[in-house]
Amino acid sequence: MQDATRRDTWVRIGAVDRFEAGRITPVPLEWPTRAPDGPRTRLSVYVRRNADGSFVVFHGRCPDTGAPLAWDPRTERFFCPCRGSVFDREGRVLAGPAPRPLDRHRWKVEAGVLYAGRISGQEGPAFPLAV
Ligand code: FES
Repeated sequence: MQDATRRDTWVRIGAVDRFEAGRITPVPLEWPTRAPDGPRTRLSVYVRRNADGSFVVFHGRCPDTGAPLAWDPRTERFFCPCRGSVFDREGRVLAGPAPRPLDRHRWKVEAGVLYAGRISGQEGPAFPLAV
């Protein structure tokens, strides 16, 4: 098992073909912890495949205090049940106390499989700590 503090920790999301262009898809993931054979952290991401084949992998927790988000495809908004933050499909804050847009994970595709890495710009563990 990889040490989650290393920069090269990647978690398999799934085959790229399962993601339709333009659609945002929630994906539950299990992230490694620092301890070898330690418990894994359950943490969802939201995957958006763009028309050019690139991806956006949104972190599944609100940047306010870390409550899990819900995606509503009808309104194309992310909603937080904590104190009512709302985000658009780009992750921009539309309402509520969230201090910044949604965090995004690094991502890569290898052999037709999409992987999530650490949050862009974040140092420390590859997985977010607000759980
Ligand atoms: S955690 Fe989202 S508004 Fe508080």
